[in-house]
Amino acid sequence: MKKLENVREFMRRDRVFDFVDKGYNPLKGYGHALSKGDVDVSHGMILYVENVSVSFDGFKALNDLNLYIKDGELRCIIGPNGAGKTTMMDVITGKTRPDEGRVFFGQNIDLTRMNETQVAEVGIGRKFQKPTIFPEHSVFQNLELAIKMDKRAVVSVRAKLSQSQLQRIDEVLELIGLPDQRQLAAKLLSHGQKQWLEIGMLLMSDPRLLLVDEPVAGMTHQEMDRTAKLLNELAGTRSVVVVEHDMDFVRSIASTVTVLHEGSVLAEGTMDQVQNNDKVKEVYLGS
Ligand SMILES: Nc1ncnc2c1ncn2[C@@H]1O[C@H](COP(=O)(O)OP(=O)(O)OP(=O)(O)O)[C@@H](O)[C@H]1O
Ligand SMILES: [Mg+2]
Repeated sequence: MKKLENVREFMRRDRVFDFVDKGYNPLKGYGHALSKGDVDVSHGMILYVENVSVSFDGFKALNDLNLYIKDGELRCIIGPNGAGKTTMMDVITGKTRPDEGRVFFGQNIDLTRMNETQVAEVGIGRKFQKPTIFPEHSVFQNLELAIKMDKRAVVSVRAKLSQSQLQRIDEVLELIGLPDQRQLAAKLLSHGQKQWLEIGMLLMSDPRLLLVDEPVAGMTHQEMDRTAKLLNELAGTRSVVVVEHDMDFVRSIASTVTVLHEGSVLAEGTMDQVQNNDKVKEVYLGS
């Protein structure tokens, strides 16, 4: 049976021509498809960003950036406009190649050699600011589509979901606080609910690391509180990195805060520590 599975796996991989075409095959040498289980977190770290620099026409958007995220950690990244926060996420997710430096997922997976699809497949989910949900479809159908779009799932678009997949949708609906809206068209959700639905869609592929860029922009205070609770619930079983401008929100999450400035880390610590840091006061928080 095992042999048969291996053969099937090989055939499946062989069909993924973009892996082959891009020159480097990060799966080579493993003898099997990389999956989330393969990320080596034996040193307790899920993400290593080391000495990373990125230049755009001579301007250094990231300048010798160093950042370490622990397995299961919830981390907030703050910093003034143009500090490099989104560029950092672009580098982690394979959208932008660093000019220098290393970016590793766990100890063993070199993210700088992967494209965006491959990065998603090893277990890194990214939520962009603008929700990318299907407005005409119901909340349930959006989550169903998220499963079917996940390349690793062996489900065709027409196939019925398995019992465990249906159960997973129920769990995610609970988690994102939308069990009563399951049949509602996504376009009828509030702004905050749309953001949660998109987080739910990312959760369907069960990422090990979730990157979230400015999740609470435009949310009501009540929605912000709910979002803080959701992100706290997600941490632990996975790692979550949140970029956010809203200081009240960052404080309510009560995680370690990293302050970026001009492409490098200016300060790191609790919200109180960074808010009382003189350099941070000078460049960012004022007063
Ligand atoms: N593709 C690009 N081409 C040229 N310059 C870029 C590009 N992407 C980012 N930059 C520049 O790099 C710097 C960092 O941008 P980035 O978007 O990472 O900042 P940010 O910290 O996310 O800011 P914000 O808080 O406004 O979202 C900015 O000066 C930006 O103009
Ligand atoms: Mg940004």
